[in-house]
Amino acid sequence: MQRIQKNQKFTVDIIDTNNLGHGVCKIDNFAVFVKNGVEGDRCNIKIIKLLKNYALAVCEELVNPSPYRITPVCPYKRCGGCVFQHVSFEYENLLKKRYIESSLKKAGITDVTVSDTLYADNKDTAYRNKAQYPLSLDKDGNIKAGFYAQHTHDVIPCDSCAIAPSVFSDIVKTLTDFFTKEHFSVYNEETRKGLLRHIYLRIAEMTGEIMVCIVINGDEIPHKNELVSLITTQFPNVRTVCLNVNKKETNVVLSDKNIVIYGDGYIEDVLCGKHFRISPLSFYQVNRSCAELLYNTAKKLLSKDYKKVLDLYCGVGTVGICVASDSEKLIGVEIVPEAIEDAKKNALLNSLDNCEFYCADASDIAKLAPKCDSIIVDPPRKGITKAVIEFIADASPKKVVYISCDPDTLIRDIAIFAEYGYKTDKITPVNMFPRTSHVESVVCLTQSCKST
Ligand SMILES: C[S@@+](CC[C@H](N)C(=O)[O-])C[C@H]1O[C@@H](n2cnc3c(N)ncnc32)[C@H](O)[C@@H]1O
Repeated sequence: MQRIQKNQKFTVDIIDTNNLGHGVCKIDNFAVFVKNGVEGDRCNIKIIKLLKNYALAVCEELVNPSPYRITPVCPYKRCGGCVFQHVSFEYENLLKKRYIESSLKKAGITDVTVSDTLYADNKDTAYRNKAQYPLSLDKDGNIKAGFYAQHTHDVIPCDSCAIAPSVFSDIVKTLTDFFTKEHFSVYNEETRKGLLRHIYLRIAEMTGEIMVCIVINGDEIPHKNELVSLITTQFPNVRTVCLNVNKKETNVVLSDKNIVIYGDGYIEDVLCGKHFRISPLSFYQVNRSCAELLYNTAKKLLSKDYKKVLDLYCGVGTVGICVASDSEKLIGVEIVPEAIEDAKKNALLNSLDNCEFYCADASDIAKLAPKCDSIIVDPPRKGITKAVIEFIADASPKKVVYISCDPDTLIRDIAIFAEYGYKTDKITPVNMFPRTSHVESVVCLTQSCKST
């Protein structure tokens, strides 16, 4: 009989750490997840929630700390962004590998191994090239930027974020001081009134160029020229300033309407020696060094003798241009029109005349029907649809390189690909998002005998 009750206290040994950064222990064979617990800890815990199959607990006292523990560089405890600030980077990389292994096991896949997680050296801090800061008022009426507390829309004021570059904090401080001085109003989710919603920043690490985008519930911003002058004088690397007009009652930060108020509306970065232009709405991997690792791994996995390459979910064309610019034909397909405009410009920027980019839903690819001998897919978290897998199987490429930011949907799709005769024996994790629960992976699916 289960004897655990809410508010009960225990001394436990933590035997594992899960992908949410919680320690795992067993009490009378009943699973208990301990917030901020780490494998190897001996600690005194208190049960805070009891569910049918497991309980949640907090660690009240560390009796013996785990050897994997480190002192977090980030002082903020309530922001939901990072879950692995309190463990060593090496251990985090191991956990991400173990997470994929256990997901494979749960899916009943026994013939796929997981390699050691790839990571960029010295890049567990200040690696993000993009950040979005919600705005709020403090009790004195000053405008503050921060991050949402986990599972809420309460903004925790945050002067600096350990995984974003320090120049972002400086820009945010300059902007919020200016907004306060000029008595700007802040958007209120309940009343749907107020102008300022988010500050959205991007930096191109190799060129240093910065994009500043202010998300507003309106069509205009007061003191526009003064604002541009302040920001570009204090931060000469700011190449463009935009307004994103978002009047919708939504959690989605950006709408599709941008107004450029300074510069050309984009910044330029260099990846694997190729140049890329990036607009506010275009996807670009948040960790440049890891993106290079990922794309170099994808290049090694791709058939050497590719001629016609399809880059599905191509964003601004980065993967295709980095790994297969020497193909006879490179075809990219992507749903965001701005990203496709960027991709076309990126082909020109890199003097490539073998590229075609189409704005389309990947699920309609069969109608577009560019048959190719090699295919790269890099979908969003939800993975790819059966229609896309059927199209790929029908095109019959020797190899499909699948890049994924969600191991669970990747594993689901690997199982479907197997039904069509495409198999892999290895998943390579890449720690694109250090300190957070997320992990990128890449696999090569090779055509074997069709089972149907
Ligand atoms: C993970 S990103 C990869 C982008 C690019 N390959 C890169 O590495 O920069 C996924 C991309 O798929 C696009 N996308 C999302 N749903 C799509 C769909 N149904 N059809 C085509 N593209 C889609 C997104 O806009 C985004 O650019």
